[in-house]
Amino acid sequence: MKGIILAGGAGTRLYPMTLVMAKQLQPIYDKPMIYYPLSFLMAGGIRDILIITTPNDLKHFQSLLGDGAHLGIQLSYKTQPSPDGLPDAFILGEEFIGDDDICLILGDNLFHGDNQFFIQALKDHNEKKDQIKARVFAYNVADPRAYGVIEFDKKNHSVKSIEEKPEIPKSQYVLPGIYIFDSSVSTRSKKLLPSKRRETEIVDLILTYKEENSLGVSTINPGVVWLDTGTPKSLLHASSYIETIEERQGLKVACIEEVAFRMGFINLVQLKQIIEKIPKSLYREYLEKLSMTLE
Ligand code: DAU
Repeated sequence: MKGIILAGGAGTRLYPMTLVMAKQLQPIYDKPMIYYPLSFLMAGGIRDILIITTPNDLKHFQSLLGDGAHLGIQLSYKTQPSPDGLPDAFILGEEFIGDDDICLILGDNLFHGDNQFFIQALKDHNEKKDQIKARVFAYNVADPRAYGVIEFDKKNHSVKSIEEKPEIPKSQYVLPGIYIFDSSVSTRSKKLLPSKRRETEIVDLILTYKEENSLGVSTINPGVVWLDTGTPKSLLHASSYIETIEERQGLKVACIEEVAFRMGFINLVQLKQIIEKIPKSLYREYLEKLSMTLE
């Protein structure tokens, strides 16, 4: 399984913050936003990851994360000239995907809590490949109108409908920005037509699998926190949430170096080499303390 982080888009809802810096580089409390989706993929065991961003922002992501070798992962980059829709990721990423399965995560989505739902979904995808070629997730929210909304058949829990940002949602279950597809996703994406908002829609892509009865859905239990961070208010909420958790537990959420170590992508010596290069900061102190407990 490979991963794509989609980190482009105009970020207009965060203007003027996004005038010179991509949305996915804005801070969520104490680290750049992209650390959250990146660490989430890493914690799922995904090590070969393509980051898609705008031509303007590419250099910033590259100087932040490099080629990933220090984290024991492989990062590559691709630019999206204009925000033509989420499925564009699979067209731009066609060569990267090759014959492999692919997990797309949106660069402004933040998950926190037990990631077992994701590990299980990756396992299910692997084991049921003959039948299920795409897997999406369903999460209960108070106001579903800003999302892809998924309606289940009450009798057999199969997917009845999926609609993008409906005015009158048919359920409170929405699609978070994480998706698993087989390698046919690139060909399918090329056939999609733009919607009213002049973008191709991920929901239309997902529906191609539903029509073939090859769509799986995993419900995420409410113990897992999913936040998206597209507006100033949601950015603040996410920062407050992370601050609260980190203060209470004394542990960092989405510390990519820690995740790399815990996943066995790097060893203690490599972790210490990373720490040496980090300037004096709370982030460095955290990693120093961690590395001492690991000795
Ligand atoms: O957050 C989950 C929702 O994400 C889903 O429930 C919806 O079904 C899905 O369409 C999407 O809705 P949004 O309206 O939130 O998508 P948005 O256009 O804001 O794009 C999401 C992220 O992807 C954002 O960080 C910018 C980036 N993006 C977006 C587009 C359209 C790109 O990098 N390139 C693009 O072409």
